[in-house]
Amino acid sequence: MDLRSFEAAAWARLMEAAAGPHAGFRYVTLCTVDAAQRPQARIVVLRECDDERRMLTFHTDVRSPKWQEMAANPQVTVLGYCHERRLQLRLAGQVHCYAAGSEIARNTWRALPPHTRQTYNGGPPGEVRATAPLAGESTGPETGESRFGVVILQASSLDAYQLQRNDNQRALFRYAADGVLQASAWINP
Ligand SMILES: Cc1cc2nc3c(=O)[nH]c(=O)nc-3n(C[C@H](O)[C@H](O)[C@H](O)COP(=O)(O)O)c2cc1C
Repeated sequence: MDLRSFEAAAWARLMEAAAGPHAGFRYVTLCTVDAAQRPQARIVVLRECDDERRMLTFHTDVRSPKWQEMAANPQVTVLGYCHERRLQLRLAGQVHCYAAGSEIARNTWRALPPHTRQTYNGGPPGEVRATAPLAGESTGPETGESRFGVVILQASSLDAYQLQRNDNQRALFRYAADGVLQASAWINP
């Protein structure tokens, strides 16, 4: 395989994941750095992918620690592994965060199904709750919008690692600020 095809295949996997809940890269790890310079990581759903501009979109609660971390330091890493394809993808770059009131958050919120909207109805993520979760607990369908945020990663690099029985393959791709491929190279696995 040539470098160009390897890169295109990696982005095709990300496109699949944004389109379908059963794809290998649907759940990826979003890594941030907190105010104490400690690494933080958590699973998020890959919601959208733009393979031309090399952008990934995630949704989150603006009250969550990760939102605060990205506001203070927009440099993040996204890590995923597809067991079926034996492919690891590590993307680094800068995020732009769009909170309630922005056009992007408003339009995205409108397109969300009710059960997804409901996940923004509870108390602030990470805070202690006094009672055990109750089935169907909710504060109403509209309250979540003010807490809903969209996170868009502009990738500046992609490290793709293909496991193969005798010949693991790894390549590093670098992107300009608009997503155009600037450099690519095979690297030792
Ligand atoms: C399968 C799975 C998918 C998740 N998807 C999201 C998501 O898309 N957005 C999100 O904010 N949190 C998601 N979470 C919860 C996060 O992993 C995390 O626990 C939570 O957002 C708090 O993160 P923080 O304290 O680092 O801000 C998901 C958790 C799991 C297990």
